[in-house]
Amino acid sequence: MSQQRHILVTGGAGYIGSHMTLALLAAGERPLVIDDLSAGLRSAVPAEVPFFLGDFGNADFVGEIMDRYPVEAVIHFAASVVVPDSVANPLAYYANNTVNARTLIECVVRHAIPHFVFSSTAAVYGEPEVTPVVEDQATDPINPYGRSKLMVEWMLADVAKAHPLSYAALRYFNVAGADPQGRAGQSSPNATHLIKIAVQAALGKRAGMEVYGTDYPTADGSCIRDYVHVSDLAQAHLDALNYLRGGGPSLTCNLGDATGYSVLEVIDVVKRVSGVDFDVRLKPRRAGDPATLVASNQRARTMLGWTPRYGDLETIVRHALAWERGL
Ligand code: UFG
Repeated sequence: MSQQRHILVTGGAGYIGSHMTLALLAAGERPLVIDDLSAGLRSAVPAEVPFFLGDFGNADFVGEIMDRYPVEAVIHFAASVVVPDSVANPLAYYANNTVNARTLIECVVRHAIPHFVFSSTAAVYGEPEVTPVVEDQATDPINPYGRSKLMVEWMLADVAKAHPLSYAALRYFNVAGADPQGRAGQSSPNATHLIKIAVQAALGKRAGMEVYGTDYPTADGSCIRDYVHVSDLAQAHLDALNYLRGGGPSLTCNLGDATGYSVLEVIDVVKRVSGVDFDVRLKPRRAGDPATLVASNQRARTMLGWTPRYGDLETIVRHALAWERGL
Protein backbone atom coordinates (compact mmCIF):
# COMPACT_ATOMS: atom_id res chain seq x y z
CA MET A 1 0.00 0.00 0.00
CA SER A 2 1.18 3.49 -0.80
CA GLN A 3 2.57 5.54 2.07
CA GLN A 4 1.88 8.81 0.28
CA ARG A 5 0.26 11.28 2.64
CA HIS A 6 -2.61 13.60 1.80
CA ILE A 7 -2.81 17.31 1.09
CA LEU A 8 -5.79 18.83 2.89
CA VAL A 9 -7.36 21.69 0.94
CA THR A 10 -9.78 23.95 2.82
CA GLY A 11 -12.15 25.77 0.50
CA GLY A 12 -11.44 23.16 -2.16
CA ALA A 13 -14.91 23.59 -3.71
CA GLY A 14 -14.33 27.31 -4.26
CA TYR A 15 -12.92 29.24 -7.16
CA ILE A 16 -9.20 29.00 -6.39
CA GLY A 17 -9.44 25.79 -4.35
CA SER A 18 -11.04 23.87 -7.22
CA HIS A 19 -8.14 24.81 -9.52
CA MET A 20 -5.74 23.72 -6.76
CA THR A 21 -7.37 20.32 -6.50
CA LEU A 22 -7.03 19.81 -10.25
CA ALA A 23 -3.37 20.83 -10.10
CA LEU A 24 -2.72 18.46 -7.19
CA LEU A 25 -4.32 15.54 -9.01
CA ALA A 26 -2.33 16.32 -12.15
CA ALA A 27 0.86 16.29 -10.05
CA GLY A 28 0.04 12.85 -8.62
CA GLU A 29 -0.86 14.20 -5.16
CA ARG A 30 -3.72 12.96 -2.96
CA PRO A 31 -5.94 15.90 -2.06
CA LEU A 32 -8.70 15.91 0.55
CA VAL A 33 -11.24 18.74 0.44
CA ILE A 34 -13.03 20.51 3.28
CA ASP A 35 -15.68 23.04 2.29
CA ASP A 36 -18.89 24.34 3.86
CA LEU A 37 -20.27 25.17 0.38
CA SER A 38 -21.08 28.72 1.48
CA ALA A 39 -19.39 29.93 -1.71
CA GLY A 40 -18.16 26.73 -3.34
CA LEU A 41 -19.94 24.04 -5.31
CA ARG A 42 -19.88 20.31 -4.59
CA SER A 43 -19.66 19.73 -8.34
CA ALA A 44 -16.35 21.65 -8.44
CA VAL A 45 -14.65 18.81 -6.52
CA PRO A 46 -13.64 15.86 -8.72
CA ALA A 47 -15.49 12.66 -7.78
CA GLU A 48 -12.31 10.79 -6.83
CA VAL A 49 -11.33 13.36 -4.17
CA PRO A 50 -12.61 12.69 -0.62
CA PHE A 51 -14.93 15.56 0.30
CA PHE A 52 -15.92 16.69 3.80
CA LEU A 53 -18.79 19.11 4.20
CA GLY A 54 -18.19 21.37 7.17
CA ASP A 55 -16.46 24.29 8.80
CA PHE A 56 -12.65 24.46 8.80
CA GLY A 57 -12.88 26.32 12.13
CA ASN A 58 -14.58 23.38 13.88
CA ALA A 59 -11.76 21.60 15.73
CA ASP A 60 -13.72 18.36 16.24
CA PHE A 61 -14.65 18.11 12.57
CA VAL A 62 -11.14 18.90 11.32
CA GLY A 63 -9.48 16.80 14.03
CA GLU A 64 -11.47 13.73 13.01
CA ILE A 65 -10.33 14.06 9.39
CA MET A 66 -6.72 14.44 10.52
CA ASP A 67 -7.09 11.39 12.78
CA ARG A 68 -8.37 9.33 9.89
CA TYR A 69 -6.00 10.41 7.13
CA PRO A 70 -2.27 11.03 7.33
CA VAL A 71 -1.89 14.66 6.19
CA GLU A 72 1.41 16.07 5.01
CA ALA A 73 0.27 19.65 4.37
CA VAL A 74 -2.73 21.91 4.66
CA ILE A 75 -3.43 24.41 1.89
CA HIS A 76 -5.83 26.89 3.43
CA PHE A 77 -8.08 28.78 1.01
CA ALA A 78 -11.40 28.93 2.86
CA ALA A 79 -12.09 32.56 3.81
CA SER A 80 -14.36 35.55 3.38
CA VAL A 81 -12.89 37.56 0.52
CA VAL A 82 -14.89 40.66 -0.38
CA VAL A 83 -13.13 43.86 0.67
CA PRO A 84 -16.24 46.12 0.90
CA ASP A 85 -18.10 43.44 2.89
CA SER A 86 -15.24 43.40 5.36
CA VAL A 87 -15.65 47.15 5.84
CA ALA A 88 -19.39 46.72 6.50
CA ASN A 89 -19.05 43.61 8.67
CA PRO A 90 -15.59 43.46 10.22
CA LEU A 91 -16.44 41.05 13.03
CA ALA A 92 -17.58 38.39 10.56
CA TYR A 93 -14.24 38.71 8.76
CA TYR A 94 -12.22 38.47 11.96
CA ALA A 95 -14.27 35.44 13.05
CA ASN A 96 -13.90 33.50 9.82
CA ASN A 97 -10.51 34.61 8.54
CA THR A 98 -8.63 35.03 11.81
CA VAL A 99 -10.30 33.12 14.66
CA ASN A 100 -11.17 30.06 12.58
CA ALA A 101 -7.68 30.04 11.08
CA ARG A 102 -6.24 29.97 14.61
CA THR A 103 -8.29 26.86 15.36
CA LEU A 104 -7.17 25.22 12.11
CA ILE A 105 -3.51 25.96 12.85
CA GLU A 106 -3.95 24.47 16.31
CA CYS A 107 -5.25 21.26 14.70
CA VAL A 108 -2.22 21.26 12.40
CA VAL A 109 0.14 21.57 15.37
CA ARG A 110 -1.70 18.90 17.41
CA HIS A 111 -1.44 16.47 14.51
CA ALA A 112 2.20 17.36 13.85
CA ILE A 113 1.44 18.21 10.23
CA PRO A 114 4.74 19.60 8.93
CA HIS A 115 3.64 22.13 6.28
CA PHE A 116 1.02 24.86 5.87
CA VAL A 117 0.32 26.97 2.78
CA PHE A 118 -1.74 30.06 3.50
CA SER A 119 -3.82 32.21 1.13
CA SER A 120 -2.76 35.67 2.15
CA THR A 121 -3.39 38.80 0.17
CA ALA A 122 -1.89 41.92 -1.32
CA ALA A 123 -4.38 43.75 0.89
CA VAL A 124 -1.87 43.38 3.76
CA TYR A 125 0.18 46.18 2.15
CA GLY A 126 -2.61 48.76 2.17
CA GLU A 127 -1.53 51.73 0.06
CA PRO A 128 2.04 50.68 -0.78
CA GLU A 129 4.55 53.51 -1.00
CA VAL A 130 6.63 51.89 -3.71
CA THR A 131 5.45 50.00 -6.80
CA PRO A 132 6.02 47.19 -7.64
CA VAL A 133 5.55 45.98 -4.08
CA VAL A 134 8.28 43.81 -2.57
CA GLU A 135 7.57 41.53 0.37
CA ASP A 136 9.84 43.37 2.80
CA GLN A 137 7.82 46.53 2.43
CA ALA A 138 5.88 47.57 5.54
CA THR A 139 2.43 46.04 5.92
CA ASP A 140 -0.32 48.52 6.70
CA PRO A 141 -3.73 47.22 5.58
CA ILE A 142 -6.47 49.76 5.02
CA ASN A 143 -9.42 47.41 5.40
CA PRO A 144 -10.55 44.67 7.84
CA TYR A 145 -10.08 42.01 5.16
CA GLY A 146 -6.36 42.77 4.92
CA ARG A 147 -6.00 42.95 8.71
CA SER A 148 -7.87 39.66 9.19
CA LYS A 149 -5.31 37.96 6.92
CA LEU A 150 -2.23 39.76 8.24
CA MET A 151 -2.97 38.50 11.75
CA VAL A 152 -2.84 34.94 10.41
CA GLU A 153 0.57 35.64 8.91
CA TRP A 154 1.72 36.79 12.37
CA MET A 155 0.27 33.69 14.02
CA LEU A 156 2.06 31.46 11.53
CA ALA A 157 5.37 33.22 12.13
CA ASP A 158 5.04 32.71 15.89
CA VAL A 159 3.81 29.13 15.62
CA ALA A 160 6.60 28.16 13.24
CA LYS A 161 9.13 29.34 15.83
CA ALA A 162 7.51 27.34 18.61
CA HIS A 163 6.62 24.12 16.74
CA PRO A 164 8.05 22.01 13.93
CA LEU A 165 5.99 23.65 11.19
CA SER A 166 7.14 25.34 8.00
CA TYR A 167 4.76 27.53 6.07
CA ALA A 168 4.35 29.65 2.96
CA ALA A 169 2.19 32.77 3.23
CA LEU A 170 1.26 33.60 -0.35
CA ARG A 171 0.05 37.14 -0.92
CA TYR A 172 -2.28 37.04 -3.88
CA PHE A 173 -2.81 40.02 -6.08
CA ASN A 174 -5.97 39.95 -8.26
CA VAL A 175 -6.80 36.38 -9.19
CA ALA A 176 -8.79 35.94 -12.39
CA GLY A 177 -9.37 33.68 -15.38
CA ALA A 178 -10.36 30.02 -15.49
CA ASP A 179 -8.88 26.59 -16.15
CA PRO A 180 -7.50 26.63 -19.75
CA GLN A 181 -9.14 23.21 -20.31
CA GLY A 182 -12.52 24.54 -19.15
CA ARG A 183 -12.82 22.20 -16.14
CA ALA A 184 -13.12 24.94 -13.48
CA GLY A 185 -13.79 28.64 -13.15
CA GLN A 186 -15.51 31.24 -11.02
CA SER A 187 -19.05 29.96 -10.58
CA SER A 188 -20.54 32.22 -7.92
CA PRO A 189 -23.35 34.30 -9.43
CA ASN A 190 -22.71 36.97 -6.75
CA ALA A 191 -19.04 37.52 -7.50
CA THR A 192 -17.89 41.10 -7.06
CA HIS A 193 -14.55 40.89 -8.83
CA LEU A 194 -13.88 43.15 -11.78
CA ILE A 195 -13.12 40.65 -14.56
CA LYS A 196 -16.01 38.37 -13.59
CA ILE A 197 -18.39 41.33 -13.64
CA ALA A 198 -17.09 42.69 -16.94
CA VAL A 199 -17.38 39.26 -18.54
CA GLN A 200 -20.96 38.91 -17.27
CA ALA A 201 -21.75 42.33 -18.74
CA ALA A 202 -20.22 41.29 -22.08
CA LEU A 203 -22.40 38.17 -22.16
CA GLY A 204 -25.58 40.11 -21.33
CA LYS A 205 -25.88 38.45 -17.90
CA ARG A 206 -26.02 41.90 -16.33
CA ALA A 207 -27.08 45.28 -17.65
CA GLY A 208 -23.63 46.82 -18.04
CA MET A 209 -21.35 47.60 -15.11
CA GLU A 210 -19.98 50.38 -12.91
CA VAL A 211 -16.47 51.75 -12.44
CA TYR A 212 -15.82 52.68 -8.81
CA GLY A 213 -13.74 55.81 -8.91
CA THR A 214 -12.09 57.74 -11.73
CA ASP A 215 -10.34 60.32 -9.55
CA TYR A 216 -7.46 58.18 -8.28
CA PRO A 217 -3.88 59.39 -8.78
CA THR A 218 -3.36 57.11 -11.81
CA ALA A 219 -3.03 57.86 -15.53
CA ASP A 220 -6.74 57.43 -16.33
CA GLY A 221 -8.03 57.97 -12.77
CA SER A 222 -9.21 54.38 -12.21
CA CYS A 223 -7.51 51.88 -9.87
CA ILE A 224 -4.57 49.81 -11.07
CA ARG A 225 -4.33 46.11 -10.20
CA ASP A 226 -2.12 43.16 -11.03
CA TYR A 227 -4.14 40.28 -12.50
CA VAL A 228 -2.77 36.76 -12.04
CA HIS A 229 -4.23 33.70 -13.76
CA VAL A 230 -5.87 31.26 -11.34
CA SER A 231 -4.04 28.27 -12.87
CA ASP A 232 -0.69 30.03 -12.46
CA LEU A 233 -1.67 30.72 -8.87
CA ALA A 234 -2.45 27.04 -8.25
CA GLN A 235 0.91 26.10 -9.76
CA ALA A 236 2.64 28.47 -7.33
CA HIS A 237 1.07 26.55 -4.43
CA LEU A 238 2.46 23.29 -5.80
CA ASP A 239 5.83 24.97 -6.12
CA ALA A 240 5.54 26.21 -2.52
CA LEU A 241 4.59 22.74 -1.30
CA ASN A 242 7.64 21.21 -2.97
CA TYR A 243 9.85 24.00 -1.63
CA LEU A 244 8.70 23.30 1.94
CA ARG A 245 9.06 19.55 1.43
CA GLY A 246 12.61 20.13 0.27
CA GLY A 247 13.38 21.72 3.64
CA GLY A 248 12.98 25.33 2.53
CA PRO A 249 12.46 27.69 5.47
CA SER A 250 9.08 29.38 5.93
CA LEU A 251 8.54 32.25 3.56
CA THR A 252 6.17 35.04 2.62
CA CYS A 253 5.79 35.62 -1.04
CA ASN A 254 3.82 37.78 -3.49
CA LEU A 255 1.87 36.06 -6.25
CA GLY A 256 1.17 38.48 -9.04
CA ASP A 257 2.07 38.89 -12.65
CA ALA A 258 4.07 42.07 -12.00
CA THR A 259 2.03 44.03 -14.57
CA GLY A 260 -0.59 46.64 -13.69
CA TYR A 261 -3.79 47.42 -15.61
CA SER A 262 -6.32 50.10 -14.77
CA VAL A 263 -10.00 49.25 -14.35
CA LEU A 264 -10.75 51.11 -17.60
CA GLU A 265 -8.02 49.17 -19.44
CA VAL A 266 -9.42 45.87 -18.20
CA ILE A 267 -12.88 46.84 -19.43
CA ASP A 268 -11.41 47.73 -22.84
CA VAL A 269 -9.75 44.33 -23.11
CA VAL A 270 -13.01 42.56 -22.18
CA LYS A 271 -14.87 44.60 -24.81
CA ARG A 272 -12.25 43.84 -27.45
CA VAL A 273 -11.96 40.11 -26.73
CA SER A 274 -15.75 39.62 -26.48
CA GLY A 275 -16.59 41.99 -29.33
CA VAL A 276 -19.38 43.51 -27.19
CA ASP A 277 -19.55 47.21 -26.31
CA PHE A 278 -21.51 46.96 -23.04
CA ASP A 279 -22.68 49.90 -20.96
CA VAL A 280 -20.17 51.32 -18.41
CA ARG A 281 -21.24 53.85 -15.75
CA LEU A 282 -18.66 55.95 -13.89
CA LYS A 283 -19.35 56.01 -10.13
CA PRO A 284 -17.73 57.35 -6.96
CA ARG A 285 -15.01 55.42 -5.16
CA ARG A 286 -15.80 52.19 -3.31
CA ALA A 287 -14.73 51.91 0.36
CA GLY A 288 -11.39 50.25 1.08
CA ASP A 289 -9.80 50.39 -2.40
CA PRO A 290 -6.11 51.34 -2.68
CA ALA A 291 -5.20 53.25 -5.87
CA THR A 292 -2.43 50.98 -7.18
CA LEU A 293 -1.35 47.43 -6.32
CA VAL A 294 1.27 45.77 -8.49
CA ALA A 295 3.51 42.93 -7.34
CA SER A 296 7.15 42.26 -7.64
CA ASN A 297 7.16 38.49 -8.16
CA GLN A 298 10.92 38.07 -8.05
CA ARG A 299 10.85 36.16 -4.78
CA ALA A 300 8.32 33.60 -6.07
CA ARG A 301 10.39 33.13 -9.21
CA THR A 302 13.69 32.79 -7.34
CA MET A 303 12.67 30.90 -4.20
CA LEU A 304 9.84 28.74 -5.54
CA GLY A 305 10.94 28.45 -9.16
CA TRP A 306 7.51 29.78 -10.16
CA THR A 307 6.98 30.81 -13.78
CA PRO A 308 3.54 32.21 -14.62
CA ARG A 309 2.36 30.87 -18.00
CA TYR A 310 -0.92 32.67 -18.59
CA GLY A 311 -0.07 36.15 -17.34
CA ASP A 312 -1.19 38.03 -20.39
CA LEU A 313 -4.48 39.86 -19.68
CA GLU A 314 -6.07 38.82 -22.98
CA THR A 315 -5.53 35.16 -22.13
CA ILE A 316 -7.02 35.65 -18.66
CA VAL A 317 -10.06 37.38 -20.17
CA ARG A 318 -10.45 34.73 -22.90
CA HIS A 319 -10.48 31.93 -20.32
CA ALA A 320 -12.90 33.83 -18.06
CA LEU A 321 -15.23 34.45 -21.00
CA ALA A 322 -15.15 30.81 -22.08
CA TRP A 323 -16.01 29.65 -18.57
CA GLU A 324 -18.78 32.22 -18.12
CA ARG A 325 -20.34 31.22 -21.45
CA GLY A 326 -20.52 27.61 -20.29
CA LEU A 327 -22.21 28.38 -16.97
N1 UFG B 1 -14.25 47.46 -9.69
C1 UFG B 1 -15.11 48.27 -10.43
N2 UFG B 1 -16.34 47.78 -10.75
C2 UFG B 1 -16.76 46.55 -10.37
C3 UFG B 1 -15.87 45.72 -9.61
C4 UFG B 1 -14.63 46.22 -9.30
O1 UFG B 1 -14.77 49.39 -10.77
O2 UFG B 1 -17.90 46.18 -10.66
C5 UFG B 1 -12.93 47.98 -9.36
C6 UFG B 1 -12.66 48.07 -7.88
O3 UFG B 1 -13.15 49.25 -7.34
C7 UFG B 1 -11.15 47.95 -7.85
C8 UFG B 1 -10.83 47.02 -9.02
O4 UFG B 1 -11.98 47.06 -9.86
O5 UFG B 1 -10.58 49.19 -8.11
C9 UFG B 1 -10.59 45.60 -8.61
O6 UFG B 1 -11.65 45.22 -7.74
P1 UFG B 1 -11.93 43.71 -7.36
O7 UFG B 1 -13.16 43.71 -6.49
O8 UFG B 1 -11.93 42.89 -8.57
O9 UFG B 1 -10.67 43.27 -6.53
P2 UFG B 1 -9.97 44.01 -5.29
O10 UFG B 1 -8.74 44.67 -5.85
O11 UFG B 1 -10.88 44.82 -4.47
O12 UFG B 1 -9.66 42.77 -4.39
C10 UFG B 1 -8.75 41.81 -4.78
C11 UFG B 1 -9.08 40.50 -4.12
C12 UFG B 1 -8.87 40.58 -2.65
C13 UFG B 1 -7.51 41.12 -2.39
C14 UFG B 1 -7.34 42.43 -3.04
C15 UFG B 1 -6.03 43.07 -2.78
O13 UFG B 1 -10.41 40.16 -4.37
O14 UFG B 1 -9.00 39.32 -2.10
O15 UFG B 1 -7.49 42.26 -4.42
O16 UFG B 1 -6.30 44.44 -2.61
F1 UFG B 1 -7.30 41.29 -1.09
